[in-house]
Amino acid sequence: MSDPQAIWKELTLLDKPKLASLFEEKGRVEDWSQALDLPGGRIRFDWSKTHLDDAHGEAFAKLAKAMGFADKRRALFAGEVVNPTEERAAEHTAERGHGADEAVALADALHMRMRGLVEAIHAGAFGEVKHLIHVGIGGSALGPALALDALARDDAKVDVHVVSNVDGNALKAAFKACDPGTTMLAIASKTFTTIETMTNAQSVLDWMGEGGVSDPQGRVVALTANPEAALDWGVDETRILPFSDTVGGRYSVWSSIGFPVALALGWEGFAAMLEGAGAMDAHFREVDGLENLPLRAAFADLYYTHLRGSQTRAVFAYDERLRLLPDYLQQLEMESNGKRVTAEGKPVHGPTAPITWGGTGTDAQHAVFQLLHQGTHLVPVDFIASIAPGHDLDPAHHEILLMNCFAQGAALMAGKESDDEDLGGARAYPGDRPSATILCDALNPATLGALIAFHEHRTFASAVLLGINPFDQFGVELGKQIARAMEEDEGDFDASTSALLDAAGLG
Ligand code: F6P
Repeated sequence: MSDPQAIWKELTLLDKPKLASLFEEKGRVEDWSQALDLPGGRIRFDWSKTHLDDAHGEAFAKLAKAMGFADKRRALFAGEVVNPTEERAAEHTAERGHGADEAVALADALHMRMRGLVEAIHAGAFGEVKHLIHVGIGGSALGPALALDALARDDAKVDVHVVSNVDGNALKAAFKACDPGTTMLAIASKTFTTIETMTNAQSVLDWMGEGGVSDPQGRVVALTANPEAALDWGVDETRILPFSDTVGGRYSVWSSIGFPVALALGWEGFAAMLEGAGAMDAHFREVDGLENLPLRAAFADLYYTHLRGSQTRAVFAYDERLRLLPDYLQQLEMESNGKRVTAEGKPVHGPTAPITWGGTGTDAQHAVFQLLHQGTHLVPVDFIASIAPGHDLDPAHHEILLMNCFAQGAALMAGKESDDEDLGGARAYPGDRPSATILCDALNPATLGALIAFHEHRTFASAVLLGINPFDQFGVELGKQIARAMEEDEGDFDASTSALLDAAGLG
């Protein structure tokens, strides 16, 4: 059978097992969890507390075949056009050494150029550089912000402030923490046209000038796929770090957009991130069927959206260093797969990306977990944690953290009958609620790289199963166009919008 709709029909007719009954079978954990030994240590992917069983696994594998998964994966790594609406390849994996030969060679050469500048700054070629203000937004900020917050808490070679919001309050906070005389500016923008970023960049230059820096432009680095625009903006050619147009914004932390990460960690740290991601590429590229972990995760994601009516999926990092991971995944997953038409422009048959949300454990337990345990929504949850604590405080901190993480998954699955009849259902936990756990030996540049790449491939695999193009994002354009029309005092707006503009003195 190769008709995807027939396979979906088959999937809807399969039994919907309870987690408890799946756990009565021998080998449930062994069959549905797997460990990968990666450059930064082992990562365990435990999908046993999801409702996938052998029958679902087989049917989803058939769906993958019917949707041409193997060929689409090959095309991704071969640098073929996988983004048909923009007629582009998606070559982020080439940054990690997995791609067409020319793309890998170009990425290597551009990395060497970036390394040269990073090491020159460390060696004092720009005088004392204590701070970097990195302005960028979306994919030009979220990856660097995540990596820096996760990995550069202690011993950062340069103190980096990532500023994305055009709200001046964001920039003011960075100014407060930096001294203009020892600050450099990185302008991160694939297009080098994004209004938030260019506005922030100009304000940083003004602040440097007002702070007595004689040549603020001489302290600017541009990270972009549009080097001509950076030149026009006045950035010296030697400080423009280009990257390929075929690297999408939300997949760009591996390119020169990762410059602040390399500056803070040193080149070896950034290279280790690439290596960890490359190891995940190798797994995704070489392993077939359910053993392919990003593909398996995509099966579970589609199971919940299509067969169990889940509209959201939640990610809780039981690690303070990964507190920005949910934000990062929101862009990766929702900008990639929040689509309503197929890659051929036809309406999709069912839901596409769920809404990704989440937070940090244990904080989130005291805020949103009530809904997870007893609310009316079925929310599949991912827990992400590291066995090594990453700090030298009393080990009790980490033991409590990890035990809470594991307890939440156990509680969601087991549930509990009410222990007070007078209160009826108020004290009952229905249970049978799914979760997956990703447990790293340690969080380090290589494991973070692997974790991010795992999610990139999971997102790609979901897109293939859904038949959509994950690499365009036309949905973000209309709002930008209307804002531009307002700025240029053009266009006809609805009565509510006009009244709001008038109220703000912008009409
Ligand atoms: O508005 C969405 C978006 O295009 C993202 O995809 C991208 O990461 C972000 O804007 C920033 O774009 P740029 O890097 O071109 O400034």
